[in-house]
Amino acid sequence: MDNKIGVGTGIGKIILIGEHAVVYGQPALAIPFPATKIKTTIRRKKGSITLNCFFHQGLLSNSPKKLVGLVSVIEQIVHSFNERLEDFSIDIESSIPPERGMGSSAAVAIATIRALYDYYNRLLTDDELFKWANVSEQIVHGNPSGIDMSIIIGETPLYYIKGKAFVPFTFKLDAYLIVADTGELGQTQAAVSSVRKLVESNPEEGKSLIKQLGVLTNRVKVSIEKKDVVKLGQSMTKAHSLLKKLGVSNSSLDRLVSVALDNEALGAKLTGGGRGGCIIALASTIQQADFICDKLLSNGAKNTWILDMELIKNGQ
Ligand code: PMV
Repeated sequence: MDNKIGVGTGIGKIILIGEHAVVYGQPALAIPFPATKIKTTIRRKKGSITLNCFFHQGLLSNSPKKLVGLVSVIEQIVHSFNERLEDFSIDIESSIPPERGMGSSAAVAIATIRALYDYYNRLLTDDELFKWANVSEQIVHGNPSGIDMSIIIGETPLYYIKGKAFVPFTFKLDAYLIVADTGELGQTQAAVSSVRKLVESNPEEGKSLIKQLGVLTNRVKVSIEKKDVVKLGQSMTKAHSLLKKLGVSNSSLDRLVSVALDNEALGAKLTGGGRGGCIIALASTIQQADFICDKLLSNGAKNTWILDMELIKNGQ
């Protein structure tokens, strides 16, 4: 019994297009990003619960404010099992940089929920996992669309509309997706609420931008189905300019987008909540992708990843 252990994992995600508009009922497309991962390990350990993660090493009860969503879901799950909130440790290892629009908060919650269910030998359905992850995400993000949780649970590309069932979206593309990190924390919650303010104060402009983003998402879906990477790239770049008008970009994101476009990327845009975090760019060959990554790194990017879009894990 002393070496009792529970393990859970959660992968990163990238929103290809549709962020922010998805909050208002427009579609979004997102893909799993297994190059980055969270692993939570729960071990039996006498005494108060300890947490060891990027933001905190110590007693769970002394966790900083930004972990309140995670702490709350841990407490509620243990309570729902009629177990006592003591006698275990939680270790969270992460290769998803936090607060960069890669879904780290949802992935941490999902890995930890899976680890708790594993530790207590309970069966976990996807619906329950979504429900619990939402407890944490509601606290972290305010009013999440659910796209992060859906993609991390399903681990397959999704065409996602808030409140609707997951629609796995199968694709293979002869192209490479570059993800580049500005190194700055994204500000999803602040960005989401500033979009809301814009929509409330200037509904004509706000709603029009959101609708245009929705149109672009559907256009991107068609481009992917037709394997038209040039049009896909063009729609990405157009989406960036709309997101900029919505007020969710910043100078670092704009700079990396320009560097990618000046170096033959087929398209580039911010990804996720914005105001920091990451950009994505599209390249047609691996040589071009490597070249663009070099340029991004020498122009301020803190890290880059390349995703071969032919190898994206699909649902069926
Ligand atoms: O920054 P992220 O990865 O949490 O993505 C946020 C995506 C938004 O559309 C801006 C918000 C949401 O809840 O969908």
